[in-house]
Amino acid sequence: MKTMNETFTLYNGVKIPKLGFGTWQISNGPVCYDSVTSALKSGYRHIDTASAYGNEESVGKAVRDSGIDRKEIFITTKVPAEIKSYQKAKEIINRSLELLNCEYIDLLLIHAPKPWSEMYPGSPKNYDSENAEVWKAMIETYREGKVKAIGVSNFGISDIENLIKQTGFKPMANQIRFFIGYTQNELTNYCQANRILVEGYSPLATGRILNNPEIQRIANKYQKTLPQICIRYLIQKNVLPLPKSTHAEFIAANTEIDFEISASDMEYLDSLKDTDK
Ligand SMILES: NC(=O)c1ccc[n+]([C@@H]2O[C@H](COP(=O)([O-])OP(=O)(O)OC[C@H]3O[C@@H](n4cnc5c(N)ncnc54)[C@H](OP(=O)(O)O)[C@@H]3O)[C@@H](O)[C@H]2O)c1
Repeated sequence: MKTMNETFTLYNGVKIPKLGFGTWQISNGPVCYDSVTSALKSGYRHIDTASAYGNEESVGKAVRDSGIDRKEIFITTKVPAEIKSYQKAKEIINRSLELLNCEYIDLLLIHAPKPWSEMYPGSPKNYDSENAEVWKAMIETYREGKVKAIGVSNFGISDIENLIKQTGFKPMANQIRFFIGYTQNELTNYCQANRILVEGYSPLATGRILNNPEIQRIANKYQKTLPQICIRYLIQKNVLPLPKSTHAEFIAANTEIDFEISASDMEYLDSLKDTDK
């Protein structure tokens, strides 16, 4: 079976396609519609969007127009990092459902534990109680069946433990920045040991990894492209890659990941640092 047709299983039994298509920085309208349409034509069955990306409407339209059964497509969206109350979370979830124009969301994430303007090391304010309020709204929506799974993004270990402590409900996934040279090992190990799926965003370091000579050398060895090595690397780490592109040829090429990087080459890739510099 092709890797992209395989699935990971969340701890509640929901299956999630192993390769997702990222849509950050793809404007709502024709560019997003065409990119998602290309992705679906190339075989992706998992689309990652967010309320903050402003493109849920085009994502939903491309999904509907594809003619593919809704049940075959996995849609993730996110509650914005700035939304930190129960009521506002409920409202934005309903807005996402309206914009996507679908009956349910497959996976809903809290986009970040703090508003973006406060997402820097040592930022003083703690949002533990606010995150628990948002989480309660998400648990309720999950129990109503409007979302099939719930999780978090950019959460550290203490942020996750806070949610569990305050609600008794463990996130099913944590979507974090993850690429060769930036693997957040402690957090990744914690999540995987606790059956929280790790999704890797920016697997190509938002394009900044594309000229890395060490990874290019490995790509040449396998007669693959550098992006294919980067995406495959995540799969072999049991991390779900979410590559983004607006070019049909890149979108298709990024699905050609049915090969095996050897254990020694994985170790070498593990040793690389500053790959995005
Ligand atoms: N949860 C979060 O906070 C968060 C944060 C960041 C990202 N994400 C998610 O993760 C997704 C991916 O991350 P990302 O958007 O940072 O980008 P990325 O996938 O790491 O890199 C995208 C860049 O690589 C280029 N590219 C893609 N495939 C290529 C190929 N085969 N050959 C050459 N260039 C290629 C793209 O070019 P073109 O687009 O010009 O084709 C674009 O410039 C996002 O779209 C989003 O869904 C989540």
